[in-house]
Amino acid sequence: MGERWDVINRFIRPESRYLEIGVDQGETWRRVNCVRKIGIDPDSRFATHHMTSDEFFACHDKACCGKFDVIFVDGLHLQDQVARDVENSFGMLAFGGVIVMHDVIPRTMKHAQEERIAPEWYGTVWKAAVALAFNPHVDFTVVEIPGGCGILREGTQEIPSILPELALDPAYFFENARNTIYRMVP
Ligand SMILES: C[S@@+](CC[C@H](N)C(=O)[O-])C[C@H]1O[C@@H](n2cnc3c(N)ncnc32)[C@H](O)[C@@H]1O
Repeated sequence: MGERWDVINRFIRPESRYLEIGVDQGETWRRVNCVRKIGIDPDSRFATHHMTSDEFFACHDKACCGKFDVIFVDGLHLQDQVARDVENSFGMLAFGGVIVMHDVIPRTMKHAQEERIAPEWYGTVWKAAVALAFNPHVDFTVVEIPGGCGILREGTQEIPSILPELALDPAYFFENARNTIYRMVP
């Protein structure tokens, strides 16, 4: 099945520029196979930039930092924050670049809500991911790994034939994310 770093490394070349939002213990960070990396996390000793993603994007743009080939969005797991991280990431993405998002398929819906009730927490990343699945102006696919990885690029796509409101129903989403909402890829 693989892990999140396996998905990221599919797109990484030795010369790639990599940005990780939410570095934590560096589990992914240390396994990404390139040297030009920026890591943003207010609370991680592995981060290169100790600040929130909003603070980073407020004072860094492509004029000062250049563009990134691969951006991993894995910071604060709340829908609005994830949506903002994705939008800001698009602004710093190189031509042909990829945004990877973790936790778009929560293992349980009990841990897939705004409140963090246990260390295992998927938050509402899935709601931001559903919005991307229904956006015809992006190319969004999902890989089946623990937590699920979204792969987002510039492009266009066919959107699901069900109503978005149904996709956002937690019970429906949990049963049908792979069949009727996400475009799953190997
Ligand atoms: C799920 S962990 C990241 C795991 C890491 N990407 C990996 O694959 O091992 C989430 C991290 O996001 C950080 N975080 C929380 N709020 C953030 C924010 N607003 N901006 C950036 N990082 C944030 C937390 O400190 C935490 O370390």
